[in-house]
Formats: sequence, structure tokens, C-alpha cells
Amino acid sequence: MKKKVLVLTGGGDCPGLNAVIRAIVKFFGNGNEKDWQVLGSIEAFNGVFADPMEVIELNGSNTAGIHVKGGTIIKTTNKGHPFNYPIQNADGTWTEIDRSDDLIERLNKLGVEAVINIGGDGSQTISQKLFEKGVNVIGVPKTIDNDLSSTDFTFGFRTAVQIATDSFDKLVTTAESHDRVMIMEVMGRDAGWIALHTAIAGGAEVCLIPEIPYDIDKVVNRINQRYKNGRGFANIVIAEGAKPKDGHAYAQKSQEVGYENRRLGGIAFRFSEELKAAGCKADIRETVLGHTQRGGTPIADDRVLATLFGIKAGQMVLNQEFGKMVAIKNNSIVSVPLKDAIKEYKFVRTDSFEIEAARRMGISFGD
Ligand code: F6P
Repeated sequence: MKKKVLVLTGGGDCPGLNAVIRAIVKFFGNGNEKDWQVLGSIEAFNGVFADPMEVIELNGSNTAGIHVKGGTIIKTTNKGHPFNYPIQNADGTWTEIDRSDDLIERLNKLGVEAVINIGGDGSQTISQKLFEKGVNVIGVPKTIDNDLSSTDFTFGFRTAVQIATDSFDKLVTTAESHDRVMIMEVMGRDAGWIALHTAIAGGAEVCLIPEIPYDIDKVVNRINQRYKNGRGFANIVIAEGAKPKDGHAYAQKSQEVGYENRRLGGIAFRFSEELKAAGCKADIRETVLGHTQRGGTPIADDRVLATLFGIKAGQMVLNQEFGKMVAIKNNSIVSVPLKDAIKEYKFVRTDSFEIEAARRMGISFGD
């Protein structure tokens, strides 16, 4: 009988997930690893929890050519936390229960020897907790936000930056034609990676990131420098988690059952009002890129990174390197302890060379 490795994707989707899945299937479909069968749980662990289980075989036929496709063929969710699983009571209210023992029992029933969990920090926290309960887990990091510690990059990030930069370039020409200030909001949660890289790639006048709280008067001054006799334009990139000095990010608690993250998004409009209140006289328009940054085809670099991560995850299964996560460090694909990867959030370092270079390019961080 073949040994079984279960693959799942958890949390928000991101370009490159399918490329990882395909690489894992190819790894186990070639050479001496043929005594393994690759299974996919539909919608993170919810597939294993379903009765009957929604677990499919992943093979050459259903994964052929998927590396160019966005999203994930095995679906994903950020609501199926096995340790805080939402259950509806008879009166319609919801309670969260720990279903990890049930999950482990089901994995054993399936005959799963190893689990490859492809996900961000939330998913890798689940991986670590399952590892501590004896499950043979390997993590593969993904997120457009690039906010996971212990890895220099996550796949999906560069695609998101490319999408944001393409939009930014379009906004520049219309800003110039109309003498306008364009505010473009990008994703990234509490980290400014997407905003910073887009601002450098696009040549923004102002880049606002959570790590550097902004002073609205300084931003207005910078915009004013761009105008002479009423003519001029300015392009601003703002991270969804950006905040003013002595203020806080624009976030709401989600009403969705089982959704644990704060919901960010929409700061571009609040910031636009702040600019007007601080005396900015120019016409201002706001663009919120939202989920376009997560959709569509991964760019080549992300396909490559995702493929390398998938192959490394396969090797780690054979080498029994459990409780670890695949990572890229100093241009090498390595494995790192899951507990280190989830220990801290990866913010943009304000003393980094990237920030210094951006400042030298004339980009204002509003500080
Ligand atoms: O973590 C990825 C991300 O796209 C963030 O940048 C964003 O804040 C969040 O997910 C959006 O989540 P959802 O898809 O649940 O609205």
C-alpha cells in the first residue's frame, strides 16, 4: 500500500499555490518516491472534517498545467481553524470548539503519514500546534503580504507588487493629465512591503506604511512642492494598515463566523478626507486595489519560488523533517523550525537600506 501525504491550502489565496501543488505531485510521481500517494483536502482542513470527507487524489491529470493558474485548485478558507472551530448551536448562536483530536483521528483513519500545510502565519500556527500533538507537519509559507518571519520572501508577493505597479503606472498618466493627487491603496495587513516595493518601482511621491506613522501636514507639504501655479500632480501609495501619528489603522472586526483577522481596507478614503482637512487644495481621487492583487496568473519569479518550495517540501517529507517550514534565505531554499517562523511578525525595518534608498529617490514617508 502506498504511503499518503496530505496537501492543503489555508488562509487567503495567493498566486503560486497551484505551482506548489503541482511541484509536490511531480516530486512524488517521479523516481523512487512513487510509493507515495498525494491527497488534497478541499478547503484547508474542512475537507477532512467533512462527512463524507472531501479529500481527493492529486495526480498528473488534475494538476497538469496548473502552475500558470491563480488561486488554488483545492480551495481555501480562513474560517476552519481546527483549534477554534465554529459550531452552530441549536439556538442559532455560534461556539468555537477545539476539534484537533477529531482531526488527528480522521487523519489516522485516512492513513496520512505526513501533512504539507501551505499557508500564512495563521496556518503555520496551526501547523506548529498540530506538530506539538504528534502530527508529521511541514509548512510551506505563502502570502502576498510578505510578512512571515524566517523567510526572505513568500511567493505571491512579487505578483502582487507587479499588479500594483501596473495600476500605479496607469494612475500616473491620468494624474498628470488632470493635475490631480491620486491615492492608491494596496494590501499588506500590518506590513508595508507591497506599498514600499510598489512606490519604488512606480516612482511615487509619497508612500505611507504602517511601520512609519504619517504626519498629515508633512504629506501636504510634499504634495504642494509638486504644484506650481495650480499645475502639477502627485501619486501616493498607501498601505491598508497605514496610520497617522498618534492614531490607529482603519480596521474593523469581521462579522463573519470563524474569521479571526481584523478586516482592513478603505483607508484611502479616510486619508483623502484628512488631506482636504489639512489644506490640500488639489483634486484628489482614490483607488483601492483590493483583491485584484491576489488574483490571476503568478509572474515567473513566483512560479519558480513556488515550484522550489514544493520540491523542498517533498524532500522534507522523505527526510522526515517535520515541525519545519520551507523558506528562502540568502538565495538558498532551506528548512526552518515552524516555531521560529511564527514567533514574530515581519515588519519593514525602518532602518533598512530599502527605506534609505526610497528616501534618496525622493519618496516621502510622511514623517
Ligand atoms: O493576507 C492577505 C490579505 O490579502 C491581506 O493583504 C488582506 O488584508 C487580507 O488578506 C484580506 O482578507 P480577505 O480575503 O479575507 O478579505
